[in-house]
Amino acid sequence: MKSRGLLLPLCVLALGPLLASCNSSGTERDFERMVNQAHFEYYEETSFFEDRRVMRDPPPGTVPHDRRLGPPEVLHGTASGKFVEAIPVPLSRPMLDDGRKRFEVLCAPCHGVGGDGVSVVAHNMELRKPSNLVAAPVLEYPAGRIYQAIAQGYGLMPSYGQDLGVEARWSIVAYVRALQLRTNGVAVDALPEPVRVRMQKELR
Ligand code: HEC
Repeated sequence: MKSRGLLLPLCVLALGPLLASCNSSGTERDFERMVNQAHFEYYEETSFFEDRRVMRDPPPGTVPHDRRLGPPEVLHGTASGKFVEAIPVPLSRPMLDDGRKRFEVLCAPCHGVGGDGVSVVAHNMELRKPSNLVAAPVLEYPAGRIYQAIAQGYGLMPSYGQDLGVEARWSIVAYVRALQLRTNGVAVDALPEPVRVRMQKELR
């Protein structure tokens, strides 16, 4: 039994190279050209460059393709090592709409559509419940801390740094702020003039 079991793999081993080196038209094809071409290994020496090093320094001023350049308060939500209080990018209606769409797809499954931490996932997440985003303490968080939770993740919450660019992250922070205002109310005096006038007219 044992020797018969070995026979087939042995045949395949013996025939394998023969089969791989030819195809039906009889011409040979090398599918590993990139791997098999002449190449250097790291740290090898070469006479091609004057300093004989194979590994070259990147040209001066080169930055990694995934490193974003910009002010740290926008990129990281921090300034001088502290979270920024206010959202450091201009707010607009389209940005809020974008934040809402993203929040409802990415965050609501855990934090609830209203941000209050009520969701099926939350109900079943026994170890650590997704935070209520519209009540203390998150309500008092500086904008930068919410941004960082999105960019880097927090405790059991996964990071969304890979999925969301800087603008998209701030749009979600802005929408979380809108949800907080909706839940906790806004002082009439704090409303922008046109909105206040309209509200007072319509409520009269
Ligand atoms: C898989 C479920 C899940 C998803 C999706 C999720 N969160 Fe969370 N989030 C959590 C949990 C759980 C915690 C509490 C983590 C802990 O305390 O260990 C949390 C905590 C937070 C906190 C509080 C962080 C702090 O410093 O206290 C914020 C803010 C937050 N999430 C925002 C978001 C936003 C915005 C999104 C969407 C981009 C999101 N979360 C998506 C599960 C999730």
